[in-house]
Amino acid sequence: LSLRKENAWSDTYQFYLFENFWCPSIHFQAVNNFKKEFQAKDTDFVVASFPKSGTIWLKAITFSIVNSQQFSSLEDHHPLLSSNPHELVPFFEFIFGGDDIHSQILCLSNMAEPRIFGTHTPFPSLPVSIKESNCKIVYICRNPFDNFVSAWNYFNKIKPTTVSELTLDEAFELYCNGIMEYGPWWSHMLGYWEESIARPDKVLFLKYDHLKEDTNFHVKSVAKFLGCPFTEEEENNGVIENIIKLCSFEKMKDLEVNRSGTYGKGGIEKKNFFPKGESGDWVNYFSPSMTEKLSKIVEEKLSESGLSFKMCS
Ligand code: A3P
Repeated sequence: LSLRKENAWSDTYQFYLFENFWCPSIHFQAVNNFKKEFQAKDTDFVVASFPKSGTIWLKAITFSIVNSQQFSSLEDHHPLLSSNPHELVPFFEFIFGGDDIHSQILCLSNMAEPRIFGTHTPFPSLPVSIKESNCKIVYICRNPFDNFVSAWNYFNKIKPTTVSELTLDEAFELYCNGIMEYGPWWSHMLGYWEESIARPDKVLFLKYDHLKEDTNFHVKSVAKFLGCPFTEEEENNGVIENIIKLCSFEKMKDLEVNRSGTYGKGGIEKKNFFPKGESGDWVNYFSPSMTEKLSKIVEEKLSESGLSFKMCS
């Protein structure tokens, strides 16, 4: 293992090449601990994603669905109104990053069921207990064009001011070579894609653009997949519409809890999780040669798998 500083997006995001993916140095120990120590339960739900693909949105939706009996979405006491989705659905990479792993493991085993977690860890590197138990994984990814732009804007905003900015061209070069945290993006997507085909009851594969186009349809399919489908009465009472509204970009971005304060050890300002929330913003950043280059890579990496993105065709 060696630290690849020259390949990182910023000083805080240097990478180790670990099990064929670029693991951020700050998560390296956590990913190892997670893989070795986590004991999944059949009732667990895991929200998995490639970074900058709508993770926080899917966490909010999943949390709302799983708790829809307990909280009517628009009531004042709904947890999403006072907590950021990353706090309600914690990342394994943060849970296992602390110094006292054993007390964390004890806390995990005492958590109320069903437990919901998030992860960016690629499918092949997940703990055996996640793969072998009956817990369910909902995965989200995004067309690589918008994914790249979202990542570039994000990493430029959150990095310390002492680090010189990575230009769009420099970051694009890295992205095209698969170098981004938890990348290469194509292997990340394909790992979950192939599993979703082999075991459709285990992994539900979603795309950000589809979720945006028809949120109602996908909220229903996530609920069904998780084993908590909406009853006809719930549908008629507007439960799905309430979840969609509560988890919408406009609502989430406007909540005081998401507008101020920081998240995690790195002190990321929470407002940075909600920059634009649109599909197709990449056209404002890409030159014709960038479009051509990334389209070719998408074709080369994904065409045989059957996984495709509308923006690239
Ligand atoms: P942009 O950078 O294009 O604005 P992640 O949560 O994986 O880090 O993904 C971040 C992207 O999801 C950001 O995209 C962010 O704006 C978008 N996003 C966050 N919440 C959203 C929501 N409720 N609906 C749609 N998009 C959302």
